[in-house]
Amino acid sequence: MADVDEGERADLRGSVAREDTPRIRPAGMADLRAIMKLETLCFDGDTVEGEPAYRERIETFPEGFLVLESTEGIIGFISSEIWERRERVSADMFALGHSARERFAPGGNELYVSSLAVSPAHRGKAYGEALFGALLDAVTARYPGVRHAILLVGERWGGARAIYERAGFGTVAELKGFFGGRSVPPYDGYVMRRELR
Ligand SMILES: CC(C)(COP(=O)(O)OP(=O)(O)OC[C@H]1O[C@@H](n2cnc3c(N)ncnc32)[C@H](O)[C@@H]1OP(=O)(O)O)[C@@H](O)C(=O)NCCC(=O)NCCS
Repeated sequence: MADVDEGERADLRGSVAREDTPRIRPAGMADLRAIMKLETLCFDGDTVEGEPAYRERIETFPEGFLVLESTEGIIGFISSEIWERRERVSADMFALGHSARERFAPGGNELYVSSLAVSPAHRGKAYGEALFGALLDAVTARYPGVRHAILLVGERWGGARAIYERAGFGTVAELKGFFGGRSVPPYDGYVMRRELR
């Protein structure tokens, strides 16, 4: 795996990219087609979410949707919502393709990271970690009321789990057989949480 030095990580996090370094910026509707291409490349057929869900995410919380752009185009993205924190978690909170608009709480206190993806051709260069860090930094800076973060990760998604564990997230619930079940065998989901401040 290629090493990414601290300077490059800082550039990615700060969105101040050198010319040859992909840059992180907020997503716009014009990115939707490229985002959907990545979504189908990065998730199995049972997990892939549709264009209406992504369109609604960009419309509802544009500051919480970042893309990673290189000279090739969009090579990664991360999306999120702001929720009112519920102590008890349940599978219905994470229904695939759910309406971001219906759940969104502008004055809420928990950031829900709904998706993260990096093109298979560009993995292992800390781009996923950079997108995750940039999102947490941007949201904590602009939304002082957001004090917690939550996400759901598949047991098989080793790269993603490594990023979240390294960022201090801990598993608070296991959702048995949440993922798969049609085109791939069922596998568990882990709900992970962290205090942000
Ligand atoms: C998750 C994802 C975005 C990570 O992208 P990335 O740019 O390769 O991530 P990074 O390079 O920042 O970090 C990946 C880390 O996980 C590690 N890793 C990769 N695959 C792994 C695996 N199967 N098991 C454990 N660790 C793994 C890498 O070694 C790296 O750690 P390191 O920096 O200590 O070497 C990318 O793999 C992806 O798009 N996966 C498919 C979609 C997905 O699972 N999304 C998560 C939704 S919750």
